[in-house]
Amino acid sequence: MFPACSLSLFVLATLASSTLGAIFQDPSELKGTQYDYIVVGAGTAGNVVAARLAEDSKKKVLVIEAGRSNTGFDSDLITIPFFGPIASPATTFDWNYTTTPQAALNNQLIAYPRGYVLGGSSSINYMVYTRCASDDYDRFASVAGDDGWSWNKILPYAFKNEKHVPPNDGHDETGEYDPTLHGTKGPLLTSLPGFLTDIDNRVLATTKELPEFPFNLDYNSGNPLGVSWMHSTIGGALRSSSATAYLTPALSAHSNLDLLYNTQVTKLIKTGDSGGLPVFLGVEFSRNATSPRHNLTAKAEVILSAGAIGTPQILMLSGIGDAAELHSVGITPLVDLPEVGKNLQDHPLVPIQWTVNSTNTMDPLLRNDPAAMSAARQQYDANQSGRLAANGVSNHMSFFRLPANSSLLSKYGDPTAGPKSPHFELAFGNGFFTTSQPIPSSGSYISIINVVVAPQSRGSITLASSNPFDHPIIDPKLLDHDYDMAAMVESVKAAKRFAGAHAWDGYITAPYTDSAGTTTDQGIVDYVRKWGTTIKHPFSTAAANKDPSKGVVDGKLLVKNVKGVRVVDASVFPFIPAGHPQAPIFIIAERAADVIKAAH
Ligand SMILES: Cc1cc2nc3c(=O)[nH]c(=O)nc-3n(C[C@H](O)[C@H](O)[C@H](O)COP(=O)(O)OP(=O)(O)OC[C@H]3O[C@@H](n4cnc5c(N)ncnc54)[C@H](O)[C@@H]3O)c2cc1C
Ligand SMILES: *[C@@H]1O[C@H](CO)[C@@H](O)[C@H](O)[C@H]1NC(C)=O
Ligand SMILES: *[C@@H]1O[C@H](CO)[C@@H](O)[C@H](O)[C@H]1NC(C)=O
Ligand SMILES: *[C@@H]1O[C@H](CO)[C@@H](O)[C@H](O)[C@H]1NC(C)=O
Ligand SMILES: *[C@@H]1O[C@H](CO)[C@@H](O)[C@H](O)[C@H]1NC(C)=O
Ligand SMILES: *[C@@H]1O[C@H](CO)[C@@H](O)[C@H](O)[C@H]1NC(C)=O
Ligand SMILES: *[C@@H]1O[C@H](CO)[C@@H](O)[C@H](O)[C@H]1NC(C)=O
Repeated sequence: MFPACSLSLFVLATLASSTLGAIFQDPSELKGTQYDYIVVGAGTAGNVVAARLAEDSKKKVLVIEAGRSNTGFDSDLITIPFFGPIASPATTFDWNYTTTPQAALNNQLIAYPRGYVLGGSSSINYMVYTRCASDDYDRFASVAGDDGWSWNKILPYAFKNEKHVPPNDGHDETGEYDPTLHGTKGPLLTSLPGFLTDIDNRVLATTKELPEFPFNLDYNSGNPLGVSWMHSTIGGALRSSSATAYLTPALSAHSNLDLLYNTQVTKLIKTGDSGGLPVFLGVEFSRNATSPRHNLTAKAEVILSAGAIGTPQILMLSGIGDAAELHSVGITPLVDLPEVGKNLQDHPLVPIQWTVNSTNTMDPLLRNDPAAMSAARQQYDANQSGRLAANGVSNHMSFFRLPANSSLLSKYGDPTAGPKSPHFELAFGNGFFTTSQPIPSSGSYISIINVVVAPQSRGSITLASSNPFDHPIIDPKLLDHDYDMAAMVESVKAAKRFAGAHAWDGYITAPYTDSAGTTTDQGIVDYVRKWGTTIKHPFSTAAANKDPSKGVVDGKLLVKNVKGVRVVDASVFPFIPAGHPQAPIFIIAERAADVIKAAH
């Protein structure tokens, strides 16, 4: 993204100044403690589940997290909103995964960040908050065979999750969203853009000029199609994550919630049989590859919330997966469940830029110009305002469908969940925003980010070895399906039409040199193969399916063919939602907590 900034010391906080729940970093300290629920992964979904389960004071809850604390002298990268894009890859907050060579991207190995920190990927993501389309939830419900996941049934959980707060700059947000659609009492803080830019009015003018890009008052209504003001998980001048919104407050409020972090779960342990099925209520964990293994047995349930990579990895390490594959890495298969780690879906992304006639972009900050960064930092430290206090990714987000008569749809079929669910996304950066190209050392730019939000490629997570501390093999098969590449070409062409509107006259001056060849479809394909990457949204590696012979979990998210284990995270979605995933994950985790409470 952009060069690592030298960060001055800002937040010097301890994990939680006063807690009722106990916090451990040494697994040996938990010996003999009895828990009703053990939640694996204090990430986006895991903290929602743990915090909600702990509301029942009669149940004792433990959450175990492999990664580090979300606070400390070096936490600026994950608290100051503008730094979201440099919180990963290759920082102490990142697992540092890498994909296999991606054939459609000239065999590049792509960095694949995941949060290695309390809050999981909600602590390192770009904070975009999109609920996605009602159709996405309705398809989830129908494939999983549980109407509770449908849009109408789950919407109350969206309100339960969210607290919409004013934008950081205090500007009047009238006409920028529909307040009736947003929660005002939930834990997770969301807000509209906190720093307005010169391109905002031109984006809006384009929606009036070109009918194919209409304005949509609020993309969180269940119909995200069109151009909307972007919502972010930011409150005041700080990132809101599942750690700050759920975990920390729950540890302060509930003595029946314990946290063990800096400790990796290495596998689940079979603890017996019940009704002809193996029970897996044992959890084995260890601080690192060389330190001793410990274990605990949950009384009621183990909830896997280790994310779309960690969850299938743990299941396979436990002997739950494709029997032949497990054998091949020396693991004794205990439960044959062939779709564990399969069906991996992700969103491919490609940025495209133009030079602009302006000296008022965020380019100096993106290239870490010392004078610009120090001025912005001084302002942030003085009164928590300015560019650093707000999301730098975009102020608008837009979602579109291919035309109904598009030959892509007749040739490949329509991968979307329904008519309100988009095929592609455009986002607008007030500077040279990229996750793949070298940043030019001078000049002013605008970027449009293209994302294929309903891809047809499916990849996989497989074990590299039986060692839980070895990274699994991650193959998202980015743009592997011909449809995905063709849809990306259509997205780039749409982005060029958008930037060609008269609204940009006198502002956009020329295409950036990297995209000079994008004047033909083949030129766009070549560009995408060179600069395409992932937006880092892995999904569906332990998919829900009502058919007992398909998927990994049932409609209540219980792992099939075993007892005692449920999955609550990105893994369970039968299809990747067509937008940014954290909101759907927060929302399904809120409902999952109620499903678990009802089961016990
Ligand atoms: C760089 C980046 C930018 C993104 N930007 C956005 C965005 O702007 N908007 C958006 O909506 N989404 C965004 N996403 C995606 C979104 O953040 C994730 O899809 C979502 O947070 C995943 O939630 P989860 O609960 O499934 O997993 P996670 O939040 O990743 O939680 C899994 C947790 O389990 C822990 N864990 C894993 N294995 C083990 C183990 N063996 N033992 C113990 N703990 C374990 C992990 O350390 C982690 O804390 C982004 C993601 C990344 C990486
Ligand atoms: C990821 O890489 C960074 C930079 O090398 C390192 O500091 C960090 O510890 C690594 N993360 C893990 C989980 O090993
Ligand atoms: C592993 O954990 C032990 C504590 O259990 C610690 O003493 C040791 O330094 C750790 N090793 C590494 C490589 O971090
Ligand atoms: C769990 O740990 C105990 C020691 O605390 C050990 O005796 C036991 O064998 C372990 N159980 C399993 C199934 O590994
Ligand atoms: C914050 O500080 C900056 C100077 O660093 C100043 O320009 C700005 O007006 C201040 N904003 C508020 C809201 O006080
Ligand atoms: C699709 O329909 C539009 C009119 O709605 C028309 O202009 C266009 O040529 C059609 N495209 C194809 C591929 O048929
Ligand atoms: C650049 O913008 C200024 C106004 O800010 C305008 O006068 C000038 O014509 C523009 N230049 C180009 C090349 O569009």
